[in-house]
Amino acid sequence: MTTHSLLILPGDGIGPEVMTEVRKVIDWFQTNKGIAFDVSEDLVGGAAYDKHGKPLADETMAKALEVDAVLLGAVGGPAYDNLDFSVKPERGLLRLRKEMDLFANLRPAQCFDALADFSSLKREVVAGLDILIVRELTSGVYFGEPRGIHSDDNNPQNEGGRVGINTQRYTSGEIRRVARAAFELAKKRDNRVCSMEKANVMESGILWREEVQWVHDNEYPEVELSHMYADNGAMQLVRRPSQFDVIVTDNLFGDILSDAAAMLTGSLGMLPSASLGAPMANGRPRAMYEPVHGSAPDITGQGKANPIACILSFAMALRYSYDLGAEADLLEKAVEKVLADGVRTADLMGPEGGTPVSTSQMGDKIVEALSAL
Ligand code: NAI
Ligand code: MG
Repeated sequence: MTTHSLLILPGDGIGPEVMTEVRKVIDWFQTNKGIAFDVSEDLVGGAAYDKHGKPLADETMAKALEVDAVLLGAVGGPAYDNLDFSVKPERGLLRLRKEMDLFANLRPAQCFDALADFSSLKREVVAGLDILIVRELTSGVYFGEPRGIHSDDNNPQNEGGRVGINTQRYTSGEIRRVARAAFELAKKRDNRVCSMEKANVMESGILWREEVQWVHDNEYPEVELSHMYADNGAMQLVRRPSQFDVIVTDNLFGDILSDAAAMLTGSLGMLPSASLGAPMANGRPRAMYEPVHGSAPDITGQGKANPIACILSFAMALRYSYDLGAEADLLEKAVEKVLADGVRTADLMGPEGGTPVSTSQMGDKIVEALSAL
């Protein structure tokens, strides 16, 4: 029997609280579906600093490189705000991302019918929405050289006398690997990829378009590919988002488009994410899954945290790391059912009010729904 290894890093604040609920879901799949998960747990962020004096122990890093997937809660909090930069909780997260070489950041925007009225857009525009933005995460204008702020003294026309420089730089290899990730994901979804750049005004955009097309023609001709200028993409995301399945784009455009897309569907407590790297020896991509939200110190320890973002991050792991698409669908349906039944954590309470459930009650309801479906 295939086992599915998972390293759980609950982290700080509400991280451990939401992770307790994911554990219930994992136990349910083990008991009721006979799926063998090999789960280990370790420290990251402030919790790791408290024990080891650094936000990620070397043994934890080594373990993260061995497993099929890492599931992370959140890191940081006021107790660690004054630490030296080199040992800040975020450095643990950054080290994981860097050493695992996670170059594809996945941000789904999925609309649960019961929450459609939470969206800033009309219900009919967001109903049934299920898109996935794949953002290149390790290159582009945030990393390109030359960069810096320089004096521009020899230019008398320049009031203030300074110039700020960043460079959008992509190699063909960097584009091809994120394009491959997007096509692989599309095969597990609706088989469509839309690539976004600004090939009309940027050479790096021309290269982007050519290389994505090359990967398509040579390796994934069966997946439908379209290209769109990123500014038009922004308009289309707001106008008719349901036209998209997978969107693949660069680091800068992806940063902006994924935040905009996230808000199509509402609360921070609902948003999962994943970061993928190159395929490992067993063919599975290196992968880390985490909710988009942080450690929420304002509600830590009060049983108010919504565990759905973390539970949906685990659903992404089922689909993209373990090839358990049917099980991922089932888990998402259970979340949908619980929401349709009117079960709400405090962050999902509308103006009409009502009584919110606790973190742990939400987890229990989702497990009950799994059994009922
Ligand atoms: P945050 O996401 O922790 O909280 C923002 C607001 O959303 C808060 O009012 C919080 O109570 C609420 N919220 C967040 N997740 C929720 C959930 N699951 N259920 C219900 N309500 C939820 O962002 P903030 O306040 O900017 O940062 C707090 C700490 O988290 C900081 O130390 C920050 O550095 C860290 N952080 C960590 C991240 C990570 O681990 N990936 C990402 C963002 C922030
Ligand atoms: Mg952003």
